[in-house]
Amino acid sequence: MRRKKIGVFIPMVLASVFTVATSSIGVWAQEGDTHALPGMQFVDRLNPAEAEAAYQGLLPGLANGYANSGLVGADYTDWARFTTTPYFSITHSDLTVHVYANEAAETAYSAFGGEEFPVGSIVVKDGMGQTEDGVVPAPMAFMEKMPAGFSSATGDWKFAMITPDGTVVGQTGGPGEESVQFCVACHTAAAGSGDWLYFPPTDKRAAR
Ligand code: HEC
Repeated sequence: MRRKKIGVFIPMVLASVFTVATSSIGVWAQEGDTHALPGMQFVDRLNPAEAEAAYQGLLPGLANGYANSGLVGADYTDWARFTTTPYFSITHSDLTVHVYANEAAETAYSAFGGEEFPVGSIVVKDGMGQTEDGVVPAPMAFMEKMPAGFSSATGDWKFAMITPDGTVVGQTGGPGEESVQFCVACHTAAAGSGDWLYFPPTDKRAAR
């Protein structure tokens, strides 16, 4: 599918987003997941090897749980993983996350910005929360590029949040849409630089 270049990467946009992010910490824990997260404070205490080992331990259960949503299959773990190590994401409620992109999204994602994504692209960020005692399954952030006209307010991306048991808390154009408005509000600042995507921190990016 044809892709076109869409603008340049603007560090200042990211900087402003991280300011917004500070005030959004905990949003997911308060409004999002009603199963594993309420009131939990997450920490960043595992080194990369420990975080990867903990993540791999959770992964089969996580993948099966998210798959109950019907939005993503458990085989998303076979997609291209664009992160070298699970990283602590302040913008995503202090969850420790990995990012995967399906085949349709792979080429555009590889550029880490400046590309428009083809219809059918799916990018997911799964995750766990680190506590003082261990790790717990956490919600998945899901984005799928829908056909033109699906939703002009979201760049035709469907945003969704999926709890570890597969409950869809909300999705663009579907039930609970208001629950994913905060996703849109933050990601809109990346509309011009990365077709609404932000991409992992540079030191966590896996080249493909
Ligand atoms: C306060 C800002 C903010 C909010 C709110 C937010 N995100 Fe993000 N999101 C980011 C940033 C920044 C990144 C990349 C860096 C990182 O992972 O920390 C990212 C990464 C992602 C990714 C990986 C793809 C990529 O490179 O952008 C997905 C998928 C995603 N977010 C979906 C969502 C969904 C769905 C929600 C709501 C449930 C959400 N985001 C809420 C800022 C935000």
